[in-house]
Amino acid sequence: MERTLSIIKPDGVQRNLVGTIVGRFESEGFRIAGMKRLWLSKKEAEAFYAMHKDRPFFDSLTSYMSSGPVVVMVLEGPNAIQRNRDIMGDTNPAQAAEGTIRKEYGLDVEKNTVHGSDKPETAAKEIAFFFSELELMR
Ligand code: CMP
Repeated sequence: MERTLSIIKPDGVQRNLVGTIVGRFESEGFRIAGMKRLWLSKKEAEAFYAMHKDRPFFDSLTSYMSSGPVVVMVLEGPNAIQRNRDIMGDTNPAQAAEGTIRKEYGLDVEKNTVHGSDKPETAAKEIAFFFSELELMR
């Protein structure tokens, strides 16, 4: 079993895509081990995306991620990190494969509807950023 962090970004929440996206994850066989809706401050978004702090899009990304509510989830299942990335599709919706969430719903490279952890070390950090172990216990 593996866990990964998934975020439905402000463009997804604003367009009432929460049920659709959570349903997609469930139908793909993931267990939703934890889920909450919250509105990040700019500082919280900066802390979450700290690994991108030197990238040119950092300020815009963190402003966007704090512009409205998000839904954060822990997805659990075999090979969850890579499977979630496959289901999300390429970061840039214009380059994402047919059938992926970003191809179907992403608006642009920033408003790309979902975030998913990229590797095990990141997943552990990102899950701990939002959830305590107690919240994720079976
Ligand atoms: P995400 O998976 O949340 O991780 C970092 C985010 O930065 C990424 O999705 C994109 O939404 C955002 N981003 C904005 N501009 C770019 C860019 N030019 N290249 C990569 N990521 C970008």
